[in-house]
Amino acid sequence: MDLDLIRRLYGKGAKVYDAVFGPLLDRGRRLAVETVNATGAKSVLEVGVGTGLSLPLYRRDLEVTGIDLSPEMLARARERAAALPNVRGLLEMDAQNMSFPDARFDAVVAMYVAAVVPDMHRLFAELKRVCVPGGHVLVLNHISADKGVLGTIDRLAAPATRALAIRSDLTLKTLVDAAGLELVAADDAGIGGYIKLVRFRNKSSEPSLGSAGGGQGGGRA
Ligand SMILES: C[S@@+](CC[C@H](N)C(=O)[O-])C[C@H]1O[C@@H](n2cnc3c(N)ncnc32)[C@H](O)[C@@H]1O
Repeated sequence: MDLDLIRRLYGKGAKVYDAVFGPLLDRGRRLAVETVNATGAKSVLEVGVGTGLSLPLYRRDLEVTGIDLSPEMLARARERAAALPNVRGLLEMDAQNMSFPDARFDAVVAMYVAAVVPDMHRLFAELKRVCVPGGHVLVLNHISADKGVLGTIDRLAAPATRALAIRSDLTLKTLVDAAGLELVAADDAGIGGYIKLVRFRNKSSEPSLGSAGGGQGGGRA
């Protein structure tokens, strides 16, 4: 999987993306955004924001920034964000190498992206870096079963889905090991538990962000 291939695939798929993956993956998006909305976060970064399906779901007082590799996906996200003043920026950027300063966001979210990026360790290193100490890191993704029939199917499908730049054999252990973050919970988020919302806390000795209403905002421009 390389970045050019990912750009090409999502560039071609941008027009049909919402029809194919909109409703199918919507439950997880809603759960992820509701979770962010319920924290005290004042700023959130969504990496791999795609066509921006999640953007209208964020609290209107939450400053939202989105990044994506694909200009075509971003163009659709920008149309969607035109009526959303809390969406402050939709930028073309590699989630593995972001240009934001350290600790820029109170929360960072990656929806259906972890299995697409070429290097998950670099992704998590960046998510940690740009998130405030004690902040929320949420990853929404399909999670392969370690064993059993579903696990075997995922492993067999892996070579084919890799051609579509998607790693189908991503297990919770692989994800948590790569994250190197404090695991809070992994909740079912759709398709019979195949999709999970994995919640992490950005480890820190500093006081962590409070839940609902009690956060310390990053709030930098
Ligand atoms: C499966 S789509 C998910 C889109 C959206 N999050 C959603 O919920 O529908 C994956 C998105 O991640 C983007 N992406 C893949 N690798 C990326 C990277 N390294 N940096 C930024 N975006 C990336 C793709 O361009 C695509 O828009």
